[in-house]
Amino acid sequence: MNFAAQEIFMATKCFKSMLIILFLFLGLTSSAVPYLSQGSSLSVENPGDVLISSNGMFSAGFYPVGQNAYCFSIWFTKPCHDGSHTLVWMANRDVPVNGKRSKLSILETNEIIITDAEPVIWTINKSVKDGSWSQLNLLDSGNLVLQTRDNLTLWQSFDSPTDTLLPGQPLNQHKRLVSARSRTNHSSGKYRLLFDDDNVLRLVLNGSDTSSIYWPDSTILDYHQGRTRYNYSRTAVLDSSGYFTSSDKMEFRSTDFGIGPWRRLTLDFDGNLRLYSLEEQGVWFVTWQAMSNSCRIHGACGPNSICSYDPGWGPKCGCPPGFKMKNHADWNDGCEPEFELSCNDDVNFVQLRHVNFFGYHYDNLRNYTFQECLRVCLDSCCKAFQYRYFPEDGAYRCYSKWELRNGHRYNSYSGTLYLKLPKSFPYNNKPVREFKLNCSNKQTRQLDRLYLKKTGYETLNILIWCASIIGLLELMCVFLVFVFLYRTGESPDASTMTSGYLVAATGFKRFTYSELKKATRGFHEEIGRGGSGVVYKGVLPDQQIAAIKRLNIEAHQGEDEFLAEVSTIGRLNHMNLIEMWGYCAEGKHRLLVYEYMENGSLANNLMSNSLDWKRRLDIAVGTAKGLAYLHEECLEWVLHCDVKPHNILLDSNYHPKVSDFGLSKLLNQDSPKGSGFSKIRGTRGYMAPEWVYNLPITAKVDIYSYGIVLLEMMTGKSPSVGVPVVGTNGEKWHQRLETWVKGKKMGASATCWVEEVLDPAMGYDYDRNELENLLEVAIKCTEADRHGRPSMSQVVQMLVRGRN
Ligand SMILES: *[C@@H]1O[C@H](CO)[C@@H](O)[C@H](O)[C@H]1NC(C)=O
Ligand SMILES: *[C@@H]1O[C@H](CO)[C@@H](O)[C@H](O)[C@H]1NC(C)=O
Ligand SMILES: *[C@@H]1O[C@H](CO)[C@@H](O)[C@H](O)[C@H]1NC(C)=O
Ligand SMILES: *[C@@H]1O[C@H](CO)[C@@H](O)[C@H](O)[C@H]1NC(C)=O
Ligand SMILES: *[C@@H]1O[C@H](CO)[C@@H](O)[C@H](O)[C@H]1NC(C)=O
Ligand SMILES: *[C@@H]1O[C@H](CO)[C@@H](O)[C@H](O)[C@H]1NC(C)=O
Ligand SMILES: *[C@@H]1O[C@H](CO)[C@@H](O)[C@H](O)[C@H]1NC(C)=O
Repeated sequence: MNFAAQEIFMATKCFKSMLIILFLFLGLTSSAVPYLSQGSSLSVENPGDVLISSNGMFSAGFYPVGQNAYCFSIWFTKPCHDGSHTLVWMANRDVPVNGKRSKLSILETNEIIITDAEPVIWTINKSVKDGSWSQLNLLDSGNLVLQTRDNLTLWQSFDSPTDTLLPGQPLNQHKRLVSARSRTNHSSGKYRLLFDDDNVLRLVLNGSDTSSIYWPDSTILDYHQGRTRYNYSRTAVLDSSGYFTSSDKMEFRSTDFGIGPWRRLTLDFDGNLRLYSLEEQGVWFVTWQAMSNSCRIHGACGPNSICSYDPGWGPKCGCPPGFKMKNHADWNDGCEPEFELSCNDDVNFVQLRHVNFFGYHYDNLRNYTFQECLRVCLDSCCKAFQYRYFPEDGAYRCYSKWELRNGHRYNSYSGTLYLKLPKSFPYNNKPVREFKLNCSNKQTRQLDRLYLKKTGYETLNILIWCASIIGLLELMCVFLVFVFLYRTGESPDASTMTSGYLVAATGFKRFTYSELKKATRGFHEEIGRGGSGVVYKGVLPDQQIAAIKRLNIEAHQGEDEFLAEVSTIGRLNHMNLIEMWGYCAEGKHRLLVYEYMENGSLANNLMSNSLDWKRRLDIAVGTAKGLAYLHEECLEWVLHCDVKPHNILLDSNYHPKVSDFGLSKLLNQDSPKGSGFSKIRGTRGYMAPEWVYNLPITAKVDIYSYGIVLLEMMTGKSPSVGVPVVGTNGEKWHQRLETWVKGKKMGASATCWVEEVLDPAMGYDYDRNELENLLEVAIKCTEADRHGRPSMSQVVQMLVRGRN
C-alpha cells in the first residue's frame, strides 16, 4: 500500500509536470495551481484554467457533461482509460453552462459566481466585511474552500456534496447525497442518501410520481438491523482507513480496510450506495455496497416491470405478458399495458409464479381462499393480486394491488401473482413475448460484483493509471428473457405452493424434510462431518448443487427460536463466508442448506498437498476477511468458536469461504463480555486457553484458532497431534505447534527459522518476506494472553500490508 501511494505520488508529479510543460509549450496561461485569488476567474474556454491540488490528486474546473455543456466540477486528476474522469463534486449539475464565455469568478465581495455569457447561474454569497481578502483553494482532501487571509473558511464544497463523499467529508442533517441521473448524465437523479426525520440514515427513491425507502430494509425493524433512532446528532463520516460510521449506529469497514488507497462513497445512478477504493492499477473497486441484490432497489426497472437478478449479470428488466416497454431507451419509464381495461370488463388472470410486486396493496388479508381473494381483487378494481401461503398462519394471504411497482422475480419466492388481463386479450399459450433493450443506447447497468478484488502480484505500471473504471468493461446489454409459466383458468394447486416460502425479507428459503431427503437421495453422499452435524451433497429441485447439513441439535428449541437464529446467519453476506440458501425445521429435524464448494475443505487440501504458496496466502487473507466481517462488520456480532481447516471451504478457484459460523450462540455487540457459553465449543488443538481457564469468551478465541490454522497451513503439521520432539536426554514427546514454532524463532538458528518450520509440500516458489510476515502474524494471534492478540481487522491489515 505504501508502495502504491508512492506510485500515485510519482505518477501525479509526473503528470503535473507534463501538464505544465504542455501548457508552457502551447503558450497558454496555465493556472495549474491549487488556488484562485480574489478578483480572478477560470474560463470554460481555456483548458488550462484548472486548479490542481498540491498533491496532484484532484483538479477543479469546467468539465464537459454533454454537447456544449459544462459544469464546474472537482475530479480525480488522473483520467480513466477512456479519457473520462471520476467526478466527485459539481457546482451547477442541473444547470450546465455554455462552452463560450462562461466562467467562474471570485468577486471583490467574496462571492463566487458562475456566469453563462450574461446571467449568474450559480452563486455563493459569503460577503464578510468590505475589503476582506479571500482566495479559493483546492485542498489535498478534494475540498474546495474559500478562505480568508487568516485561513478562516467562508465556504467549502464539502458542505454541499453531490453524489460522493470523500474521506473526512461528513454527512449531516443539512446535507444529502443525490444520485446522478444515469451513467452519462450527471444531473440530479431520483435516489437520495439522507438522515430521515427519525434520525436514521436511509436510501430513498424520490421519483417523479412515487417515493419510498429501500434501505435499510423497511420490512425489518431498524432496531433489528442495528440502527438506533435516538441519536439526533445525525452525522456520518468515512475515514481514510475505510471505516464508515454514522450516529444511528450504522457502521462498516471496507473489505480492504486500512490506510492506503483513495476511497469514495458514491450514491450511484442505479440507487446503490457503494464504497470504492482506487487500487494499484488505477481501477476503482467496490469494497462495500449497501444492496447486494439490485432488484431490491426500488424503481430499478420502472413501473409495471419485473426485475430479475442474476449475480453474474446483475439485474435484468422485463415486462409481464400484455405489457410492453414504454420508452425503448430507458427502463426508468417501465412498461405500459397493450390493452385498455375498465372495471366492468370481462377479465382473465394470468398466473406469474415467483413474482412479487412490493407494496401498493389495499390490504393484507389473512386466511383467504383463492376465490375470496379473486373477488376482493375484482371488487376493488385491482390490477393484480398476490396470493401466498404463510406457514405461520397455516393459510394463504391475499394482497390486492392497485399499482404494479418494484416487481421482482426470484425463484425462492413461493408466492404467485395473478395479473388481470382483458378476456379478449390474445395471450393463450402463445410463446411469451420478449422485450429487448436497444443495445446501442446508453442504458447499461453496472455489474454487481460484491467484494470482487484483484489480488495483484504483477509489477505496477504507472502508465496504466486508470485502466478501467469498474463496470465500464462490464457493459452489458440488458435484455429480457422471461419465460413465464402461465396457464389459464386453473385454480392454484396447493401442493405446489407449499413447497417453500420466503422468510420475510431474509431472502432464503424454507425446505420441507421430504424435499431435502429427495435432494440428497436419502442422505446418501456424506461430504463432511463435525461437532454440529453431518453434511451431505444434494441436488435441489432447481438443479443447483447444495451442501445440506443435518444438525445434531435436539429439537427442544422451538421453530421460532431456530428461525430467528438462522435468519440472522442467512443475512450475513460476504465473499469469504459460505452462503446459506435455506433451512428446514420440521418435527425433530433441523437442516441447513448451503452453497456447495467444489474443492472441499482446507483440511482435505492440506492433506493432499494440493496448495502452493500463493494459494495458501490467498486462503490466509480471505479467511481473515471473512472472520473480520463476522466479528466487526456485520449487523450482529458473531463469534465462530470453531475455526479450523475443516470449516474453511474452497471454491473452484481455491478462494476460501468460512463455513459453520453462527452456530455458536449469537452475541450482541453491546454485551461487553461474551458470556452465555454453557459448554465448551471448539476442537482440540485449535482452542484458545480461555476455554480451559474459564475466562470470558470473546472474539479473541477465534483469533487464536485462526493463528493455529495459519501455523498448520505454513508448517503442514497438525496442531491436534503436536510436533514430535526429542529432548537433550533423548526423551521424546509432542510439543504444541505454536510452542514449537515460537521455539524455532527464538532458537539458535534464528536467521533461518522460517525455512526450518516450512511445509516442504508448499514448494520453494514463495516470497520469504511475505512468509515471515505471515508467521509473525500467526505468532501474535496465538498469544496466550488474549489482550496481546490483534483483532481480525488488524490481522487483515497486517497481511495486506505485508504483501509485496
Ligand atoms: C440529463 O437529463 C435531464 C433530464 O432528463 C435532461 O434535461 C438533460 O438534458 C440531460 N443532460 C444531458 C447532458 O444529457
Ligand atoms: C451578497 O450579499 C450582500 C450582503 O448580504 C448583498 O449586498 C449582495 O447584493 C449579495 N449579492 C448577490 C449577488 O446576491
Ligand atoms: C494558513 O494556512 C497555510 C497553509 O496551511 C499556512 O502556511 C499559513 O501559515 C496559514 N496562515 C495563518 C494566518 O494561519
Ligand atoms: C423529491 O423530489 C421532488 C421533486 O421531484 C422535490 O421537490 C423534493 O424536495 C424531493 N424530496 C427530497 C426528500 O429530496
Ligand atoms: C451520537 O452520535 C455521535 C456521533 O456518532 C456520537 O459522538 C455520540 O456519542 C452519540 N451519542 C450517543 C448518546 O450515543
Ligand atoms: C381459516 O378460516 C377457516 C374458515 O373460514 C377456519 O376454519 C380456520 O380455522 C381459519 N384458519 C386460521 C389459521 O385462522
Ligand atoms: C436503437 O437506438 C438507436 C439510437 O437511439 C436507433 O438509431 C436505432 O434505430 C435503434 N434500433 C432499434 C432496433 O430500435
